[in-house]
Amino acid sequence: MAGKINLEIDAVLEKYPEPEESLIAVLQGVQDIYGYISKDAVEYITEKTNIPSSRIMGVASFYAGFRLKPVGKYRIMVCMGTACHVNGSERIGDTVKRQLGIEAGDVTEDGLFSWEEVACLGCCSISPAMMINDTAYGMLTQEKVIEIIDSIKKGEGK
Ligand code: FES
Repeated sequence: MAGKINLEIDAVLEKYPEPEESLIAVLQGVQDIYGYISKDAVEYITEKTNIPSSRIMGVASFYAGFRLKPVGKYRIMVCMGTACHVNGSERIGDTVKRQLGIEAGDVTEDGLFSWEEVACLGCCSISPAMMINDTAYGMLTQEKVIEIIDSIKKGEGK
């Protein structure tokens, strides 16, 4: 694992003198930096704290908020909450899947996109909705989703 990464995890661990008691906060800190909890990060935490990696992985996989896979530069979150569901979120998810050619939870080979299904994003009045990183998109149609993804691809020279 690269030295820079070690330093970043060290900075998280320094905040928690009892890392085992604060394991959730430690993992949250790591995820905030990298977007997910990598195997390397888990091994490094084990090396530094003696917390068994099986225990760290147990906690990381128990809580839905933790991701064990990387996310793309553009992380698409398709809302599957009730309001969005009623307004056709399934079609939205299918369109994203088709446009990217990957299953929910995966990342495209070029690392540009990942997508996932999430619970209510808190903007039900514009359902069906999705977020890409920090931006919410609402009143979605299949055409609109295709347009949004295409314009990102174009902006990235793809
Ligand atoms: S149900 Fe989708 S934003 Fe609330």
